[in-house]
Amino acid sequence: MERAPLPPFHTDLAAAEAELWRLLADGVERGRSAFHTPSLATVDAGGRPRVRTVVLRAVERGAGTLRIHCDRRSDKAGEIAARGACALHAYDPETAVQIRVEGTATLHAGDAVADAAWDASRPMSRICYGIDPAPGTALPSGGAYALPEPGDATDAGRSRFCALVLRAERLDFLYLDRRGHRRAGWRRTGEGGWTGTWLAP
Ligand SMILES: Cc1cc2nc3c(=O)[nH]c(=O)nc-3n(C[C@H](O)[C@H](O)[C@H](O)COP(=O)(O)O)c2cc1C
Repeated sequence: MERAPLPPFHTDLAAAEAELWRLLADGVERGRSAFHTPSLATVDAGGRPRVRTVVLRAVERGAGTLRIHCDRRSDKAGEIAARGACALHAYDPETAVQIRVEGTATLHAGDAVADAAWDASRPMSRICYGIDPAPGTALPSGGAYALPEPGDATDAGRSRFCALVLRAERLDFLYLDRRGHRRAGWRRTGEGGWTGTWLAP
């Protein structure tokens, strides 16, 4: 059987960096991409790791930032407010690429970043921010919580909504291929650029 040609990024570090950002941007746009729903890791007050699935809402290659939305009352928001360290990970079996992003996150609740993110979000997405009681609260039974009616979601959820902006400091790209795996990593330089190297996979 004829093998697919190796991708250009197999031998080109700059192309691997471009592919990493292309796949993340594609994840924002395409719900079926594995990069649409990466795992986000934070660190709790005891220094222990916490991880959960999130939706990747925006990526800006120039700034090296990724945006995620969450409830201000959630554990992840509290963990990021206390210490911003976080990491994001996804593996896409379609492209055989794993991407890891490590950096520092900030929460935007009442500012222009949050306003723009809220304004651009769909009514159905807004409803979950109106949930009562707060995410993670122990319930007497599984359904003992309330969500606002679709029409009422705007005000109920807005005060709880926040945009989490992850400023990447380290990037790690792993491509699996039987003809030779490829791994590369980048770190931010002082000027906000990136310095990268191939890594042993
Ligand atoms: C497919 C999928 C997408 C999710 N997207 C988000 C999201 O974008 N933001 C969010 O706060 N929680 C999202 N969740 C829920 C989180 O995984 C998690 O259960 C919840 O936010 C509570 O996390 P925490 O207690 O660690 O804050 C998603 C879950 C799934 C399964």
